[in-house]
Amino acid sequence: MAIRFLFLLVISIAPFAHAKPIELPTETAKLKPSSLPGYKIATAKCLICHSADLINQQPPGMTLDQWTAEVKKMQHAYGAPLEPDEMTVIAQYLGVTYGSTKLKNLPKSATATSTTAQSISNGVTDVKALLSKNACLGCHSITEKVVGPSYRDVATKYRQDPKALETVMAHIKSGGTGRWGTNAMPPFSSLSDAELKALAEFVLKQ
Ligand code: HEC
Ligand code: HEC
Repeated sequence: MAIRFLFLLVISIAPFAHAKPIELPTETAKLKPSSLPGYKIATAKCLICHSADLINQQPPGMTLDQWTAEVKKMQHAYGAPLEPDEMTVIAQYLGVTYGSTKLKNLPKSATATSTTAQSISNGVTDVKALLSKNACLGCHSITEKVVGPSYRDVATKYRQDPKALETVMAHIKSGGTGRWGTNAMPPFSSLSDAELKALAEFVLKQ
């Protein structure tokens, strides 16, 4: 939302800016590469609003807590689109790569490739991978009714519903029958909230 706001702001002040052209510095800065899952997520999400310079120029030796606070601030104060588990792994990446955190002091889960870390480390939660891993498209197509309703029909049904996202997340998790006919959908209770959200957002966009 904040990004859209910034965008609108730029559009609305642009007509008055012609007197003095704004000179943008050439963006060469990149984040320091790492094999930690937070590196890819940070690249996908931290550079939406500003270049990596702001991160590269932070004082060295910041602790994991300080980096965690910095990442949280981006979300709370500026509206960076970050899920809680994404903030955790980004802070771990920053703490180790830029700060004083030792890799061996991170919890074991930080370096393990859990499903969530794996799917979010492909950039943003990788919806295509989730759809194919869970065989959603065996029963659904975007435009045609198969065993279950087409995702377009689902999106149409929920278009006016302010609770669409949470309802659809809950229905993917629980499965069920009777809403669209007599065929049943199995439950997907092992999906994380971030994964359910990504899938529901994808369906509702169709
Ligand atoms: C929604 C936009 C947005 C996103 C996304 C975003 N930031 Fe920022 N960030 C800002 C703004 C605005 C500032 C303040 C800029 C300034 O002072 O010029 C800032 C400043 C910073 C600073 C400088 C220190 C400070 O607190 O002002 C750091 C470091 C930083 N961001 C890190 C990050 C990291 C790490 C991420 C990814 C987790 C991130 N940012 C994502 C908007 C964003
Ligand atoms: C074995 C077949 C099958 C699989 C696999 C399946 N679905 Fe379904 N799905 C259905 C059926 C059947 C329905 C309609 C259920 C009903 O009538 O209540 C449905 C309904 C839905 C709905 C509509 C929910 C609502 O609130 O109306 C969504 C969204 C959905 N599925 C998403 C998914 C996603 C995402 C996956 C993969 C994680 C998936 N489905 C996997 C058969 C399946």
